Amino acid sequence: MRHEVRAVVALGRGEPVRVETIEVPDPGPGEALVAVQACGVCHTDLHYREGAINDEFPFLLGHEAAGLVESVGDGVTDVAPGDFVVLNWRAVCGECRACRRARPQYCFATHNATQKMTLDGTELSPALGIGAFAEKTLVAAGQATKVDPRARPEAVGLLGCGVMAGLGAAINTGGVGLGDSVAVFGCGGVGDAAIAGARLAGAVKVIAVDLDARKLELAKGFGATHTVDASSVDPVEAIRDLTGGFGADVCIEAVGHPKVFEQAFGARDLAGVLVQVGVPSPEMRIDIPMIDFFGRGGQLRPSWYGDCLPSRDFPLYADLYLQGRLDLDAFVSETIALDDVEDAFARMERGEVLRSVVVVGGDS
Ligand SMILES: NC(=O)c1ccc[n+]([C@@H]2O[C@H](COP(=O)([O-])OP(=O)(O)OC[C@H]3O[C@@H](n4cnc5c(N)ncnc54)[C@H](O)[C@@H]3O)[C@@H](O)[C@H]2O)c1
Ligand SMILES: [Zn+2]
Ligand SMILES: [Zn+2]
Repeated sequence: MRHEVRAVVALGRGEPVRVETIEVPDPGPGEALVAVQACGVCHTDLHYREGAINDEFPFLLGHEAAGLVESVGDGVTDVAPGDFVVLNWRAVCGECRACRRARPQYCFATHNATQKMTLDGTELSPALGIGAFAEKTLVAAGQATKVDPRARPEAVGLLGCGVMAGLGAAINTGGVGLGDSVAVFGCGGVGDAAIAGARLAGAVKVIAVDLDARKLELAKGFGATHTVDASSVDPVEAIRDLTGGFGADVCIEAVGHPKVFEQAFGARDLAGVLVQVGVPSPEMRIDIPMIDFFGRGGQLRPSWYGDCLPSRDFPLYADLYLQGRLDLDAFVSETIALDDVEDAFARMERGEVLRSVVVVGGDS
């Protein structure tokens, strides 16, 4: 059986997205059909619409989602109909070289659904192999991670991408520990999650850097102890001043810009860690004196999806949320309907929201 459901699709480069009726197959072996309850609007969805990721239009957008498993295919044992799940784009294979070397966060053979969802017979490309701006979506069962069903779908679904990327950048990649000083450059959803992660991990000083005063105000709510407005002061000097002249133990770049990389590089204490989580565009170059790289020591570490393992991390952060120790609700700036995604892109570009979250079945 195929299911006809409403979904947000991007038909061509730069064209406004549309809500269309798409066809979703019943799950085959290893697959799960998920009734989506909520899905956050992420910059990556906009990148797909702009053709900046690849040319495989039409795209089925949406990838920061939570919902209920509706049915599963043969051989699926980890999830069952009725389970509350958060979707992920790192369903590790367990067999590739990275997995065998106990580094599954670098798995290069992650699983997606084998069958295709379609629009008028044309195969859709689901964003990050998920495609969750839809009433139902088909994923590989390993992409659906069970979490405590008492968690609010709008909030916990955000663990599926940007919030996990930020939390993990601080905790997994940056290795922030008790007593550390941390500087986070760029206080959007990802940077604010890095701030929250640094606080969870025991950092005593958490310095938020942004060009936008509204973002700096929000960053305080996630646990920033100090803010630096990089539109009016040199952030490297400001961070030195705030850290007794040393610099921060861990600097997290959550913008994706060479100038910000250089600032984060220079704002580290001797032997400090730089975590690159902001995504650069292909033409960007970094140019730093090699002697500075050598002389300052430490580590420069890119972070993909916060080096997370969804099966380990999603239930953990959902529990911390339910205990009141991680405010996932604060990332939800507004809830919207499937029909409102295009407007939400505009609000995101104007810097007005951390996350707009589509509530499937909600009113526009
Ligand atoms: N590595 C990963 O796995 C991963 C996952 C998700 C998102 N990302 C990336 O993380 C980055 C941040 O995502 P987001 O959703 O928070 O984006 P966002 O646009 O909401 O936030 C970016 C913030 O950076 C600020 N900013 C811009 N220029 C700045 C500068 N020169 N100095 C200081 N602040 C500056 C903006 O004011 C804004 O608050 C993006 O590049 C995104 O693609 C990476
Ligand atoms: Zn693997
Ligand atoms: Zn995303």
